[in-house]
This record gives sequence, structure tokens and C-alpha cells, in this order.
Amino acid sequence: MSETIIITGGAGFIGSHLADRLLALGHRVRVLDNLTERVHRNGRPAYLSPAIEFIEGDVRHRDAMVRALRGADVVFHFAAYQDYQQDFSTFFHTNAVSTALIYELIVQERLPVRKVVVASSQFVQGDGLYRTADGEVVAPMFRSAEQLERGDWEFRDAEGRPMQWLWTPETHAGPANAYAMSKFSQEQQAMRFGERYAIPSTALRFSIVQGSRQSFYNTYSGACRIFSLHYYFGKAPTIYEDGRQRRDFVNIHDVIDANVLVMNDHRTDYQVFNVGGGTAWTVSQLASTVAQVFGREDLEPLLPGSYRYGDTRHACSDISKLRALGWEPKRSMEQSVREYVAYLNEQTNVDDILAFATENMRMQNVVRQARPHGL
Ligand SMILES: NC(=O)c1ccc[n+]([C@@H]2O[C@H](COP(=O)([O-])OP(=O)(O)OC[C@H]3O[C@@H](n4cnc5c(N)ncnc54)[C@H](O)[C@@H]3O)[C@@H](O)[C@H]2O)c1
Repeated sequence: MSETIIITGGAGFIGSHLADRLLALGHRVRVLDNLTERVHRNGRPAYLSPAIEFIEGDVRHRDAMVRALRGADVVFHFAAYQDYQQDFSTFFHTNAVSTALIYELIVQERLPVRKVVVASSQFVQGDGLYRTADGEVVAPMFRSAEQLERGDWEFRDAEGRPMQWLWTPETHAGPANAYAMSKFSQEQQAMRFGERYAIPSTALRFSIVQGSRQSFYNTYSGACRIFSLHYYFGKAPTIYEDGRQRRDFVNIHDVIDANVLVMNDHRTDYQVFNVGGGTAWTVSQLASTVAQVFGREDLEPLLPGSYRYGDTRHACSDISKLRALGWEPKRSMEQSVREYVAYLNEQTNVDDILAFATENMRMQNVVRQARPHGL
């Protein structure tokens, strides 16, 4: 059955891929997106399908949201502020308050929306769960500035013994920054407002998503972009810490599969699901894969012991809950990197992209240098 589906933030990376899939499935797709300059430096992206009904507007604005929601069967709320900046209130306005506005309008205007899906993030789990040498499961918060300055990267228990990271399930939350707190609020609203007002809702905690269309100007988009840009320009990338920090990267098309599944499966109502890649890659392995894709294995990454204060050490999501409903991450990390690099190779403004990335890192001043011997 053809439905009218709203995607807020649908001009972005994940939203635009979802729009393409939903159009291919025969649905009508409406996008509400304000084309944030930080993400879309060149205006409306060329990849956006002309078959989309596009509303240029802000999810914080009631009128724009009313226009978007009228006549909608399903809402995907993907618009988000997601950077490492210190304007904390913007995270809550854009991510959390907009979610409240969606539920407020559905309830007040009695809109017949049959499903709401909100994009949450692996960041909600913070540093996730660990097992101590004594077998106890704990949720550590932050590595101290002193520890990192010594170049001592792993979480340790009270007696100084390193702890083992664990695949972290949805039952754990430990949001540690404004972005993560705003995403956790979105999850809680989807659960509480959803259930209370009988608006079937699901929150998806995406791990690091990889694939084409990821903005080159989003500071957030991380290691794959930085490594790719370095190899593109024939430079060795710098890896933070010791390169052994683990991440589960998930392919964009697997993420879209998950969204389509939860949209139609009532078992997902009022539930939070991790959407991850299922493999715990080290950041060094990611760098090697990018080097292979560029055929530049000769350019060894640099490991000077620099680090970003506030980074998570390991971030790996337990995906067994969504797997139990029949979803599976099917695409490899290498496939994701190849898709991203192919997209990079299509760009004509790459100098601009690199200049932006370099300046941005300098401005942020979050990269620090370990001094293991007190030097
Ligand atoms: N990409 C990832 O790895 C990842 C991981 C975890 C969670 N997420 C979440 O998934 C969602 C989509 O992420 P993405 O990677 O596609 O991001 P993106 O930046 O590519 O897309 C977000 C879109 O939202 C729009 N937007 C931002 N503020 C807006 C506002 N106030 N009003 C209207 N539109 C606005 C932007 O213009 C952009 O098109 C976000 O909610 C994000 O927090 C993404």
C-alpha cells in the first residue's frame, strides 16, 4: 500500500538514502529540511530525487512542522544538530524540542500518524559496558585527563587492571555530552509519549554509518572521511591513541533495511534498537582498508600518541535485539569505504573540502598530545 512518509532531515546522508528506498517501494515521500549550511555548503544536494515533495523549513518551527505532518502516515525524524561545538542549547532545540513538537502536534491536531521512527545514536551508550578482572559488569564514565596525558588508553578498575569492553545492549544508557543527552531525550519521548498517546514509535540507535552522501563538512562524520581525504591527497593520516580503539561501522544500506523493517513491524513499537555492523573493527583496520581502496598501503599511518579529549575508547553495539526480528547487517566495511571513496572521486570541490576539514580541527583545539614519560 502506498503511503505518505515524512522524513525530517531528508536532504542529508541517511534521510536521502531512505527517501530513495521508499520511493522505489512506491511511497510518496515528503522531506522537511532547512538545508543547514554546515552540511550543505552548496545548497540543495544534486542527489536529492526530484520525486520528493521538498519543504525547506526548520524542525524547530511550528508552521513548517504542521505543513510537513499534515496527511502523513509515517514520520522519520532524522533532522539533527550533531557536531562537537559548545552551543549546548542548540542540540536540545534541534533534536529534543523538535521531537516534543512532533508529538504535541500529532496529539493536539489529532493527526492520524501510524508510526514515528526517531534516529538515536550509539553515543547514548557513552563509554558502554566493561567487565572487570573480577567478572563484574560496570559502566565507567570518562578517562581522566591525567590518564590520557600519560598515554594510558584503556579503562582500568580501582586496582589499575585493564577492563574488557563488552558489546553494549540497548538497556544501557550513559549519555556523556549534549548531543548524546539530546538523543536520549528523543528516545525517551518516543517511548513515553508514544505509549501514553498510542502513537506507535521506535527509536533506532545507529552506530557509525558509512556510505555515499555523507557531508564532507560535518565535523561529526569522522575517521572514514579524514582517512579518505588524506589518501586522496597522497598523505599519511594520523591515527589517535594507539589505533586499537574499536568501533562497529554499519553500512548505510543496512541502516535503510532496518528503518524499513521497523516501519512495518509492530513488534518494534515502543522499543529502542541498536543498529550496528556486528564486527568490532579497530581504527587502524579502518585506516588499512581505506589505504587498500586507494592502493596506497605504502603510506603508513602516523601514530604520534595524540588523542581527542572526550573520545570514547571502544564503542560497539550489541545488535542481537534487532537480529531476532530478522534484520542482519549484510554489507562489509570495505563495501562502505568503496562507496564513500567513489562518491569522493565524483566531487569537484575537493580543495575546499580539505581546507575546511583542516581549519575545523585547528579551531576545535580538541586534539592533544600524550607525554608518556612526563616530558
Ligand atoms: N551518520 C551517522 O553515522 C549517524 C550515527 C548515529 C546517529 N545518526 C543520526 O541520524 C540522523 C541523520 O544523520 P545524517 O548522518 O544523515 O546527518 P546529515 O547531517 O547528513 O543530515 C541531517 C539533515 O538534517 C538537516 N537539518 C539539520 N538541522 C535542521 C533543522 N533545524 N531543521 C530542518 N532540517 C535540519 C540538515 O540540513 C541535513 O540535511 C541524525 O538524527 C543523526 O543524529 C547518524
